[in-house]
Amino acid sequence: MSIIDQALEGKVALVTGGSRGNGRAIAIALGRRGAKVVINFASNEAAAKETATAVEAVGGTAVLSGFDVANSAAVTEAIKAIGKDHGSLEILVNNAGVAINGLLMRFSDDQWDRTMKTNLGGAFHCVRAAASMLLRAKEHGRIINITSVVGEQGNGGQAAYSASKAGLIGFTMSTARELASRGVTCNAVAPGFIETDMTAKELPEAARAKLLEQIPLSRIGRPDDVADTVAFLAGPEAAYITGQVLRVNGGLLM
Ligand SMILES: NC(=O)c1ccc[n+]([C@@H]2O[C@H](COP(=O)([O-])OP(=O)(O)OC[C@H]3O[C@@H](n4cnc5c(N)ncnc54)[C@H](OP(=O)(O)O)[C@@H]3O)[C@@H](O)[C@H]2O)c1
Repeated sequence: MSIIDQALEGKVALVTGGSRGNGRAIAIALGRRGAKVVINFASNEAAAKETATAVEAVGGTAVLSGFDVANSAAVTEAIKAIGKDHGSLEILVNNAGVAINGLLMRFSDDQWDRTMKTNLGGAFHCVRAAASMLLRAKEHGRIINITSVVGEQGNGGQAAYSASKAGLIGFTMSTARELASRGVTCNAVAPGFIETDMTAKELPEAARAKLLEQIPLSRIGRPDDVADTVAFLAGPEAAYITGQVLRVNGGLLM
């Protein structure tokens, strides 16, 4: 592949949580294919700037947009500004997420609410605010929601996180059905265990070895594994794929 494959030339893409981890890799992958990438972050502007520099290094264009996806009004305002500044929005990647872990008997209402409002509410806020622009994009309109293997199989200590990610799958399918008549697609990508800040602190050596035993491809995933899948779903080759959950997990769940 050439350094700049122009499949997404002229498209504007919003990547929520684009400052770090999977979101950063997704922003770079979309930028490499020619999209103008709007990089959202919650608080880490310095990291978002690093993402923008990395997008530009592969020949892409990037701008920053800091807002909290859990804040409905802030999302509406930010997405309206994207329309005003860039004229369109063809690709929305709902990647921003938090993993607040803990046994459910000790889980607080606040932890539950924060998880739901960010992981599930965030996607709802962004899709609702972007829907009219995505519908105008017709068959170029793409929504890609980042769910998780845990949304399909659960995990002890992650009741809220897995519920939010399972909810995102239902949300993906309903959105796909609502927007399909105009050619807009909506899919979910379900990563397994990917090496990012979210997972780095959680995995002592013994646990890592045990996890690897369960992954047929015998390695932890990389953000690029997720990003390349998202870039495929954002492109013209995926125009006939909607309402699907694409698993990127090394075979952890089949
Ligand atoms: N890593 C994995 O193994 C794995 C597996 C399955 C699914 N996922 C999913 O992949 C997505 C990205 O995860 P990651 O591992 O890359 O996590 P990460 O390294 O912790 O990065 C999280 C990103 O989300 C942003 N964010 C968090 N809360 C936000 C909010 N309220 N509003 C806007 N942005 C917010 C952060 O922004 P700041 O930098 O400003 O804090 C950051 O860019 C998440 O949805 C996660 O659930 C990850």
